[in-house]
Amino acid sequence: MKFQKIDGKKIAAELRISIKKQVESRINRGASKPGLAVILVGENPASEVYVRNKRNACDEVGFYSLSKKLPYGTTEDEVLTIIDELNNDPAINGILVQLPLPEHINEEKIIEAIDVLKDVDGFHPYNIGRLALRMPVLRSCTPKGIMTLLKSTNVPLEGKEAVVIGASNIVGRPVSLELLMARCTVTTCHSRTLNVEEHVKRADIIIAAVGIHGFVKGEWVKPGAIVIDVGINRLETGKLAGDVDYEAASNNASWITPVPGGVGPMTIASLLENTLQAAELQSS
Ligand code: GUN
Repeated sequence: MKFQKIDGKKIAAELRISIKKQVESRINRGASKPGLAVILVGENPASEVYVRNKRNACDEVGFYSLSKKLPYGTTEDEVLTIIDELNNDPAINGILVQLPLPEHINEEKIIEAIDVLKDVDGFHPYNIGRLALRMPVLRSCTPKGIMTLLKSTNVPLEGKEAVVIGASNIVGRPVSLELLMARCTVTTCHSRTLNVEEHVKRADIIIAAVGIHGFVKGEWVKPGAIVIDVGINRLETGKLAGDVDYEAASNNASWITPVPGGVGPMTIASLLENTLQAAELQSS
């Protein structure tokens, strides 16, 4: 079977063009530029790359962006004070605190301090709760990007067996809720799941978010399945690779995302969509 690649890089670029046009029309009607604040605590090379990419994407679509790079020793109270200021700053429509945070800072407390209408990561219990109840407001970025990729295939999702591997708060749980809202039959596998292989083998849609290179073997992929690979693993050679054995899986899949160039660019595109949505929500 000939598989088709889901080109996240191209779909994300198209989304950025559409967002840029919407920003221009906002400005033409006298509204402000959407503003995004990104907070980064400590030195984590991967986080620094993500934050730089987020900033560049903001510039490309005409957003106002503010980066707050804080030293590792910053206290939880200091971060909470900054969030409070940003919550009350009308030039800022979206607040993103890059995770992971240093161990002395309670992530839940930080996420819960963000104004729910500025929670462009969609991690606040309010936004996750809204998604669970099929009334989403701001949706988590990577899951939202995955749903955009799935929709781009034009394959109907209703009634499909979807198997999510990974149950993190950032990806596995919210993407399971997204798939449930799209009326899939959803199985969420996690570190204690017995026989992950057995679950994956009956999936029409596989979402791999494990963080282990080559975790999903090609022969686990049912003929015709759609494979979404969320993994971004750095190999010893320095190359990036996903959680799925891409070459072998593409022999069976109908659609598959590459790594890099699949889900990764969609996370940032969804963040831009959320920031624009947040700006619209705050002015309505
Ligand atoms: N760290 C890894 N992924 C993410 C993300 O989507 N948002 C934030 N804030 N931190 C992350």
